[in-house]
Amino acid sequence: MMDRLKITGGVPLQGSVAVSGSKNAALPIMAASILADEPVTLENIPDLTDVTTLGAVLAELGVDVLPQDARRLRLTTFDFSATTARYRLVRRMRASFCVLGPLLARRGYARVSLPGGCNLGHRPVDLHLRGLAALGADIRIERGYAVARASRLRGARVNMLGPHGPTVTGTANVLCAATLAHGTTVIEGAAREPEIVDLAAFLMKLGARIEGAGSPSVTVRGVEQLGGARHRVIEDRIEAATLLLAGAIARGEVCVRGADPRHLTAVLDALYSAGAEIEVLPQAVSVRARGNLRAVSLAARPYPGFPSDVQPQWLSLAATCTGRCTIQDEVFPNRFGHVAELNRLGAVAEVVEGACRVRGGALLEGATVAASDLRSGAALVLAALAAQGMTTIHGYRHIGRGYDDLAAKLASLGANLPENVELTHRP
Ligand code: EPU
Repeated sequence: MMDRLKITGGVPLQGSVAVSGSKNAALPIMAASILADEPVTLENIPDLTDVTTLGAVLAELGVDVLPQDARRLRLTTFDFSATTARYRLVRRMRASFCVLGPLLARRGYARVSLPGGCNLGHRPVDLHLRGLAALGADIRIERGYAVARASRLRGARVNMLGPHGPTVTGTANVLCAATLAHGTTVIEGAAREPEIVDLAAFLMKLGARIEGAGSPSVTVRGVEQLGGARHRVIEDRIEAATLLLAGAIARGEVCVRGADPRHLTAVLDALYSAGAEIEVLPQAVSVRARGNLRAVSLAARPYPGFPSDVQPQWLSLAATCTGRCTIQDEVFPNRFGHVAELNRLGAVAEVVEGACRVRGGALLEGATVAASDLRSGAALVLAALAAQGMTTIHGYRHIGRGYDDLAAKLASLGANLPENVELTHRP
């Protein structure tokens, strides 16, 4: 597998590109299929290694994951007795932990490896476990595994708010578990992300009774059984934002088809403040950036705030703008692994006491850099588009975890990717 991407920057991007289905909606929805007693068909599933990894986790849990035509999966449970998600797979992708709630609720027992280390800093799962315990599960940590038991969960009042805001996948785990509990669950401090709303929409198609998804208080009335469904996952707002920022950093004009502007408010506000021209259509968003943009300070916050998953890319853009700004991340306060690599390309940025100070106006020049995780990789790709000369980004596999053929999409907008032959993210 080729694990690097070469980009010759300085070419303005021009054109229109379609956004793929949302990774962070697809993964919890695939995991939630464990709850269904009948087959589930999922459409608009992005082609990503994270989707393949979760497919492997589900296969070990007795779910047949059958790819249909492009971007469509059919999931059918053939064995309701499997209950262990092993470390070997879970450590590759934290979102595998989303099988815990569905397994516990549908099969009465779950043994799921704790996810282990992460490049974004300390990422505990205490809120997931506390939430499931509030529903009556007996939860223990045994040799690196979360082991949960409950013959039938009971509805309860649960709070998902942690020190850095609500937990997104924790809300997903508890929401799934509550659908089959006896009685009513009220999830307070719930994550409000569009991916949670999409998960709830999917669960309701299976027969779940849910009110309030997208607000901080979600009510779930438990049912005895869930059936099958067909569901199309929402478009990926983080990919859409990344493509818009690519257009802005390359001082071009890019239209992202399929992007839902309602999910992009904070990103579009920030682009507008920077001086980019934005055009919003019901199912597309365009950005046009000519000449100088202004560096805009921001803090990433839980939805509807500016997404932490776009903070690294914003930092790249800020480095090319006029003026100074400060960037913080209240969701993952230490998510600044990309700063040192961006500095290799000529960005002038330093992290002081949890805030990144950026001095804009840097002339970026091509260099060899390394991606350490998905979004830091995207930030490097963006900076490379703006840099004079060639940049080599090692660790392209991180980008393939969460972007459905980013290289091909950028090439279609005119980016100069000299070795864009057989770029593949298949494992
Ligand atoms: N937290 C706790 N305790 C918990 C869970 C989380 O203290 O039990 C803290 C975290 O350490 C963090 C904050 O709460 O400081 C928010 O974490 P959250 O649980 O919301 O993150 P997540 O559910 O593990 C999802 C996305 C991430 C995205 C974050 C924040 C998926 C599959 N993953 O992670 O996506 O950054 O929400 O929006 O939905 C990515 O796509 O690159 C990515 C990392």
